[in-house]
Amino acid sequence: MNFDLFDFPIFPEQASTLASSVDALYFFALAISAFFSLLIAVVLFIFFVKYRRQRTGEVGEPIHGSLALEVTWSIIPLIITMVLFGWGAKVFLEIVTPPENAREYFATGKQWMWKIQHPEGNREINELHVPTGVPIKMTLTSEDVIHSFYIPAFRVKRDVLPGRYTTLWFEATKPGTYHLFCAEYCGAEHSQMIGKVVVMEPDDYQTWLAGGKAKSPIAAGEELFAQYACTTCHLEKGSGRGPWLGGIAGETVALVGGGSAVRDDNYLRESIMLPTAKLVAGYDPLMPTFQGQISEEGVMQLIAYIKSLDSEPSAEGSED
Ligand code: CUA
Repeated sequence: MNFDLFDFPIFPEQASTLASSVDALYFFALAISAFFSLLIAVVLFIFFVKYRRQRTGEVGEPIHGSLALEVTWSIIPLIITMVLFGWGAKVFLEIVTPPENAREYFATGKQWMWKIQHPEGNREINELHVPTGVPIKMTLTSEDVIHSFYIPAFRVKRDVLPGRYTTLWFEATKPGTYHLFCAEYCGAEHSQMIGKVVVMEPDDYQTWLAGGKAKSPIAAGEELFAQYACTTCHLEKGSGRGPWLGGIAGETVALVGGGSAVRDDNYLRESIMLPTAKLVAGYDPLMPTFQGQISEEGVMQLIAYIKSLDSEPSAEGSED
């Protein structure tokens, strides 16, 4: 067996733009902890020796407090924790805010595998190929239980929940192969729910993409839209029993029974699975539920198609 004693990295490689900011914060917290642990241990030892009882019956001097000391040991920790808080908040915001121009990938967790789809439509299982230098946003969901999508080399981890979308983003910086883990205990083969992330130079990535047979999520969604007869009701210009779906993503709508909702990905998903949960004002609860009929990948494709529709359908064709 080829075992190198020194090939035992305590920290994974830094392979994304987020890695160094996460590590810097982590090492700062670690250094502060180490410093105070050491300080306390040393002072403790000095006081052991200096203030030990030297004669039998010796009584210690009474102490009446020290304002200067108490203020010092309150202010210094306050400053340190506020620095950690401010710095932590900055790194957190960096991690949770994907750049506007990020490419959107989908990943579905399932006992016990990761299914991934690229914007061009290429699919992979337990493998994720990405180019360097491009921000990538992953939209994640689960077909069964809670999983967690974890790429240690990128310092990103996000819970993957059934019935909901969560997101994560990263920008890979170094070509190579890295671990992809499930970081949430999800059943007997949780420890086998592993894969690899292959980071490639953009040219190599394009070559890789071209090698696969692919149908884009939008094209697949358009087929599903027809297959599930969504076209029967969601007609252009509000001429059907359901609303026209072009240009609705991200807008706020009034609901039946008052209140309003933002039509984000989670809203769109819920409206396919449980159409009457948040019914748009002015429409009747006619739509059947598609819960259990469309796979999670199918729902993601439908949403990609809906988001690709224009708000103003072309006048030609819709006029009869
Ligand atoms: Cu999926 Cu652990």
